[in-house]
Amino acid sequence: TQRTLVLVKPDGVRRGLTGEVIRRIEAKGYTLAALELRTATRELLAAHYAEHEGKPFYEPLVEFMLSGPVAAMVVEGERCIEGFRALAGATDPTAAAPGTIRGDLARDWGLKVQQNLVHGSDSPESAEREIKIWFSEIAG
Ligand code: GTP
Ligand code: MG
Repeated sequence: TQRTLVLVKPDGVRRGLTGEVIRRIEAKGYTLAALELRTATRELLAAHYAEHEGKPFYEPLVEFMLSGPVAAMVVEGERCIEGFRALAGATDPTAAAPGTIRGDLARDWGLKVQQNLVHGSDSPESAEREIKIWFSEIAG
């Protein structure tokens, strides 16, 4: 069975939506294997977002992700990587379909970075890499 790294980003934690995100994950039938509220560091984010380094939204993204605590979790279940991406919806919260986390709960604020509430790993390779970054003690 698969595992994926999910983050409720600082906008979601600030807005009190951590429980709502967890509710949707559990209602779908996935389970939490780890859960921690914590503030990221530049080093952690440099590793997490290595693929985006140099892009125009990279610096604003890192600043945003440092702006408050995130709820980091390891979610478990058959095909949960694809499944959580479907629950989250499209990256652009304005375009994200209603019924999805981003489509129902996020919008564009005209800022330099999309504040789209959640992150979910995009492949088994990313999931393994990201779980190691955020939860080295349970990676394996
Ligand atoms: P994550 O689950 O957060 O990784 O989202 P994603 O996989 O849908 O998007 P991606 O990995 O491509 O980008 C990571 C994050 O950078 C996004 O969630 C946004 O917060 C931000 N981002 C990505 N692309 C853009 C963009 O074109 N413009 C802006 N302003 N922000 C972006
Ligand atoms: Mg991504």
